[in-house]
Amino acid sequence: MEKYIIKGGKKLKGEVRVSGAKNATLKLMAASILTEEPTLLRNVPNIKDVYFMCRVLEELGFKVRMENRTVEIKPHFSLKIETPYELVSKMRASIGVLGPLLARLGKARVALPGGCNIGSRKIDLHLRGLEVLRARIKVEHGFIEAEANGLVGDKISLDFPSVGATENLLMAAVLAEGTTFIENAAHEPEIVDLANFLNKMGAKIKGAGTFLIEIQGVKRLHGVDYTVMSDRIEAGTFIVAAVLTKGEVYVKGFRKDYLELVLDKFREAGLKLLADSQGIWVAEQKGIKAIDIVTLPYPGFPTDLQPQVMVLLSLADGTSIITENVFESRFAHVEELKRFGCDIETQGHHAIIRGTNKLNAAKINATDLRGGAALVLAGLVANGSTQVGEIHHIDRGYEHFEQKLRGLGADIIRQKDSKFAAAERPLLPSQPWL
Ligand code: EPZ
Repeated sequence: MEKYIIKGGKKLKGEVRVSGAKNATLKLMAASILTEEPTLLRNVPNIKDVYFMCRVLEELGFKVRMENRTVEIKPHFSLKIETPYELVSKMRASIGVLGPLLARLGKARVALPGGCNIGSRKIDLHLRGLEVLRARIKVEHGFIEAEANGLVGDKISLDFPSVGATENLLMAAVLAEGTTFIENAAHEPEIVDLANFLNKMGAKIKGAGTFLIEIQGVKRLHGVDYTVMSDRIEAGTFIVAAVLTKGEVYVKGFRKDYLELVLDKFREAGLKLLADSQGIWVAEQKGIKAIDIVTLPYPGFPTDLQPQVMVLLSLADGTSIITENVFESRFAHVEELKRFGCDIETQGHHAIIRGTNKLNAAKINATDLRGGAALVLAGLVANGSTQVGEIHHIDRGYEHFEQKLRGLGADIIRQKDSKFAAAERPLLPSQPWL
């Protein structure tokens, strides 16, 4: 296990490039199952969840090679239908292989992904949608057993615009017979990236990025060379870091229209942000106004920036309210933030944040990926030396996090956490080059 030691008070200055999007990369890797030909992904972030997905694909029989932010995925042994529990339990996004395996092989056995610190993470919409496409689904002994004598296109209406369900069903429908409609589909930018990837492989998808997606099934898909979109959540995280430290930072390499509403809310809070075609310039802030935030599916305020913006509002002039509508328990970071002196009270889905004028360093543990990133942000601005433990949560989704922050002038180092006897060896692919 490892921890961060952060000495707060340094103003961040300079520019930082955003990496490829975790929440696009993992689905494009799963979608590579849909073709017998090799696929090449570029702009892939060097993060733990990508290594886990490499392992899942290797377990399924693929030869996976990751080097310099590209991942090459080549069919190798005959495709297996099962993903083992120990991998799925480490990375929930592995559930995304269910649709592609069903589409390719007509069979799949995927371990049930557990819940996590932010919620139960149900998958009923995934399973019900696959049954509409004529899959037969059984859930027993902790596994999803799915079979289909060829998926058949139909109309699927999602109760909730679930990102994962939309992606799984999209990947199942591309090889189904006939046409599929997904109503009330999620329309996050990562869904559009997946649809672009699939269409480049020869799929026929229309309407990605809207509530209604139409997929005309095709017989087969071919390999593709594709560049993953940039990570809008990483971009938002660095914008908050710059504002908190009263720095001046250029966050570059992402499409600002992916953060439209976030930037509007930040401007409502008085932040001075200048957008150009390559990114966002954050000017030195004088003060932060209290505002209310409601997280919603895209294009609403993204739940993945909720913990980070909670730190920002902890230093605002006045009282703010954050309402978390997407996950049922995404406030695990609140108790840890209170150890910095943040004045936060939660009532169900609401968090009431009373602004204070300073934070004091604390010894805390990351609770999950985005909550962990928020604790680092608090450490950057707190007086004294903060220690963030359990940073394996952060390693899942932020590439070179401490290096990028140090590059902007932050005083942050990674250390072995002596409180854990045997350091947990990260699950890396078999290839020695990582
Ligand atoms: C994706 O998770 C992202 N993960 C999450 O990012 C993100 O927070 C989330 O979308 C919402 O934007 C990846 O892409 C790997 P959902 P996903 O299905 O697909 C309920 C991060 O920090 N639901 O839209 O799991 C579910 O319980 C991660 O990068 C059902 O009820 O999100 C949740 O409350 C965290 N039944 C809500 O919908 C279902 O069948 C949103 O889930 C599916 C979901």
